Amino acid sequence: MSPSTPDFDNEAVNLSGNPHLSDVLAVRLSRRVALKGAIGITTGVLLGGAARAATKVASGPRANGLQLGFSAVAKNKLDRVSVPDGYQVSILHSLGDPLQPGDAAWQGDGSETAESYARRVGDGHDGMYFFGLADNGKWDARRSDKGLLAVNHEYVVSPYVLHPQGITKGAQRVAAEARKEMLVHGVSVVEVQRTSDKDSGHGNGVALVQGSRFNRRVTATTEMDITGPARGHERVRTRFSADGTRTRGTQNNCACGHTPWGTYLTCEENWTNAVSRAAGDNARRSAAEVTSLNRYNLPDNRASAYRWDTAGTEDLFVRWSSSVTGASAADDYRHIAQTFGWVVEIDPFQPASTPAKRTALGRFSHEGAWPAPVVAGLPVVFYMGDDAPNEYIYKFVSATPWSPADAHGGLAAGTKYLDAGTLYVARFDADGSGQWLELTHGRNGLNARHPTYPFADQGDVVINARLAADAVGATPMDRPEWGAVNPMNGEVYMTLTNNRNRVSPVATPTGKQLRTDAANPRTYADEYTRSDGSTQTNRGNVNGHIIRWREAGGQAAATTFQWDVYLFGAQADAPADVNLSNLTDVNDFSSPDGLCFDRRGMLWIQTDDGAYTDVSNCMMLAAVPGQVGDGGKATAAGGTATFKGAPATDATVRRFLVGPKGCEITGLTLTPDHKTLFVNVQHPGEGGMADYAANRFGSHWPASQTMPDSQARPRSSTVVVTRQDGGEIGT
Ligand code: FEO
Ligand code: CA
Ligand code: CA
Ligand code: CA
Repeated sequence: MSPSTPDFDNEAVNLSGNPHLSDVLAVRLSRRVALKGAIGITTGVLLGGAARAATKVASGPRANGLQLGFSAVAKNKLDRVSVPDGYQVSILHSLGDPLQPGDAAWQGDGSETAESYARRVGDGHDGMYFFGLADNGKWDARRSDKGLLAVNHEYVVSPYVLHPQGITKGAQRVAAEARKEMLVHGVSVVEVQRTSDKDSGHGNGVALVQGSRFNRRVTATTEMDITGPARGHERVRTRFSADGTRTRGTQNNCACGHTPWGTYLTCEENWTNAVSRAAGDNARRSAAEVTSLNRYNLPDNRASAYRWDTAGTEDLFVRWSSSVTGASAADDYRHIAQTFGWVVEIDPFQPASTPAKRTALGRFSHEGAWPAPVVAGLPVVFYMGDDAPNEYIYKFVSATPWSPADAHGGLAAGTKYLDAGTLYVARFDADGSGQWLELTHGRNGLNARHPTYPFADQGDVVINARLAADAVGATPMDRPEWGAVNPMNGEVYMTLTNNRNRVSPVATPTGKQLRTDAANPRTYADEYTRSDGSTQTNRGNVNGHIIRWREAGGQAAATTFQWDVYLFGAQADAPADVNLSNLTDVNDFSSPDGLCFDRRGMLWIQTDDGAYTDVSNCMMLAAVPGQVGDGGKATAAGGTATFKGAPATDATVRRFLVGPKGCEITGLTLTPDHKTLFVNVQHPGEGGMADYAANRFGSHWPASQTMPDSQARPRSSTVVVTRQDGGEIGT
């Protein structure tokens, strides 16, 4: 997030006091705090557009018949995307690029009108998915030369790019700026087609088809249906929709998902950026409402980061205030908060269709929704994470068993599979087993007599999924980000990006802190060197980890599982109880976030880091993982016992890409033939300077990719990576 938009990722609001495994675990006391030694910056060598590790990596053993077949990219802090030798990079689209022929190209000075952003690429590129496009305009999961690319636009990187001189300061937001910001949020769907590349002759690159009938923007103003248990619920009724069946906009769309019926799922994460609440509002609310609003980080007297509600008296602006101002819910937007925090389904093949907020999947800071492979006659299953410190991992199991006849069912199939089913939340036990705890009204104490919150019905349970998860004893995790299901064996992986609020089992937690537990076992201290040479010390689970589990009997709908930690992020030179996965210079990383299995079973890991960025910009790695239980027991820094996967080697985990300055690498998808890889670069230049008079910014990417002296403003973008010889990526 930019300096003017605080990173609410890092605001812990779970104060449920759920029991922590460390309280019942006999732990070995370790007072050792891991302090890392001095580190040298590994400077990448620029050769033909690639920064490469000095050492060529030997070929390694095969798993799933797969073998990593590229030289590791060296950690670096260049203002460009670095890829392995033999690969090439091009830019598909960037913030502000026009989707239709009538609009001028991006000018690079913030002069584009707000209105034109209804037809331009949005900001903050994040989750995305490639849908092959058949000649008849339908989804073809095998098609690689033509497709629809759906991309999330998570938030505004505005101080750098969007407005002529950044955000205009003042008690009220400038209306035109607020309007433009609403329209850069949401999703873009664009048609892409393979190009014939004259230089390489392989034609595996792709270009945006300007003017395609499929090109579409979904924004913070787009009308949507509310479906599932919360449809029509008292707590989603607003002046816009007095019966609580519709709403406008999707907000802070982070990661994504896709369905077996050819639709895109976009997930609402830090939506509290946009919603404010006035001082004194608590006095106009029931006790239950206050409990709910507090649990979702909307306490009394809370300004939003964006402050769109201050931009004027038009409905478009006042709707972002969740304060009670009218006689009833039909007169104001007191319930606007409950219209965000959902999984939203979009049919990319039907540009005029109305997106649907699928409330059966629960409301929280949704990172994404990842499907298990479908089996005819068995339920459809999605895995989901709530990205905030000490929040939970969820899964949804459809009531209706999968029928392959619905493979092109669009939103009608979504209604069939996503509006009725069972929501679960995960508990990770210290013995390596786990339980899925059901969040169904009337079960597990989720009823109107619950002492923390009176759950009135299933709509109330899904609206307050966090409170329901607290009530059933779910395990608070170190910030769940992306999930991915291994197509080879059905095992589920999820990144836990970092958590500054973890303390050792012998510490006394204060404020929002929690003790470590077996599934979130590390706490340590790590020194970070700022650009001015000064240092700071980061504490907690500084570098994050990737947990994985195998469902009982290999059934995605099972209610028990076995887990271990696939990889612990760490610096290669960290102590052994921090660098528990034996990472080395070819594969060390910090703060895993994006995660994706391709169809071959290759795992892609992306980082959104602020702990190791003194050494390297954020990055992407490729991996060929084993399975749950292929490692053994371990004791993590801080003294907590855990289970870890087999150590990483240069044959099983390898750095594939490093991004430009100040960016996050997030979102990836491949064409079905694995010859074209799409990767998103979000917020290049974040945290750096913005000198409008001198045209100097924290990054000048993507222009700097080919013009090192460029003074252009940085823009979030989708990058296309191909092999110069036209072969499959990664092998
Ligand atoms: Fe938007 Fe959880 O990252
Ligand atoms: Ca460090
Ligand atoms: Ca993320
Ligand atoms: Ca993140």
